[in-house]
Amino acid sequence: MSNIVKIKKKIKDFKKVITVPGDKSLSIRWVLFASLANGKSVAKNLLMSEDVLATVEAVRKLGIRVIIKEKECIIFGKGINGYNYKKNLKIDAKNSGTLGRLILGLLVNSTKPINLIGDKSLSKRDFKRISDPLSKFGAKFKLTKNNYLPLKIYGSSKLKPIKYYENKASAQCKSSVMFAGMRTDGTTTIIAKKSRNHTELLCKHLRLPITIKKNRNFDEIKIKKVKKINTLNYNIPSDISSSAFFIVLTVLSNNSELVIKDVNINPSRTGIITILKKMGISIKFKNKKTYKGEKKADIKIVSARKIKAIDCPPKLNSGAIDEFLIIFLVAAKAKGISYFKNLSELNQKESPRLKWAEKILNYLGVKTITTEDSIKIYGNPNLSLDLNKKIIINNYLKDHRVFMTSLIAALSFGGNWTIYEKDSINTSFPNFLKIIEDLKK
Ligand code: S3P
Repeated sequence: MSNIVKIKKKIKDFKKVITVPGDKSLSIRWVLFASLANGKSVAKNLLMSEDVLATVEAVRKLGIRVIIKEKECIIFGKGINGYNYKKNLKIDAKNSGTLGRLILGLLVNSTKPINLIGDKSLSKRDFKRISDPLSKFGAKFKLTKNNYLPLKIYGSSKLKPIKYYENKASAQCKSSVMFAGMRTDGTTTIIAKKSRNHTELLCKHLRLPITIKKNRNFDEIKIKKVKKINTLNYNIPSDISSSAFFIVLTVLSNNSELVIKDVNINPSRTGIITILKKMGISIKFKNKKTYKGEKKADIKIVSARKIKAIDCPPKLNSGAIDEFLIIFLVAAKAKGISYFKNLSELNQKESPRLKWAEKILNYLGVKTITTEDSIKIYGNPNLSLDLNKKIIINNYLKDHRVFMTSLIAALSFGGNWTIYEKDSINTSFPNFLKIIEDLKK
């Protein structure tokens, strides 16, 4: 089957109700927590994508039994110290930074060395941000000279608790250190810039020995050694980062309306909603509920008549960190110049995303000024491409969000697009194109 998508037509008006798959961050965390629990945990609506399946494979390699039946996953945890494997085990995190980084926190006490590998994209991402704090606990690491994968971790049975300043707003770093703290005698303290807090909420729900003090810009997390984790049945809500593509498609289409059902709206993830509201766009949450510490709701969006440019306050960055590529498309159609800054972390993702944002926007004929950590976007409320304008998207390290953003740009602004490497969506959103087809019906 061809791995290329060609688009030559804007999407027509639609009025639909859709459901997107389960949240990726929560799915990966559920697999890891369930693998440490005492007994059988069941998840419904687990995201069945490559990143999550790589997590399942990783815990299987660590000796944990996992059964998958359609959207249900059953994990038979063997307790907090139940991993069982041979030395020099090889774990493949594939494309997943979250798996690669979080699992290292759980391996700090492994006295058998373990190898961690990843795909081409993950092997270009920084792992020093994890090996540095985990080394302070007492684990040792061998990385490539660029601080990339493949790496080898040599855990220690004599771990010391640490005080860690997390200043990149990275939930992966924070969570990895929390996992290491769960394995260490004494109290580990983390002073973390605000970032998604699913690990903290799961710890609280599981009544693990954790305290969290919220300050204005930082959270202070204290975590003690965990002796036992109870089993955890969980119904994973839908992913707001996957919803984002359809939110923006609706915003940029004419006379369209969309409801996305049962989406996780944890306030540490809803930066896109705040940003779009500041740009004058109407988005509503309906049927709000709390579920095991997380918040969820149906999201209702209508097409925007007018879009205002934004000087985006950097305090909104971490809550929208995976959504900027798609948010930039909205800025492309805004009246005026939008400015997004302090975004160096965007170039640390599956591809250098600030660079890809600039490329896609320039292909659309939108002027940008980009630095290492910022982008100015000169919006055009009448943005529309000639149907003969050829645009080719290729060689983007298979970054799923580059693929999906390009596709939404094609459907929103027109042009004659050829987008390669369709299978990139399998990491986070395997049925993305199926939902697009449903919207066209
Ligand atoms: C994630 C954290 C973020 C995000 C990633 C998922 C997580 O990465 O970009 O897609 O689940 O913890 P960083 O921690 O590197 O910001």
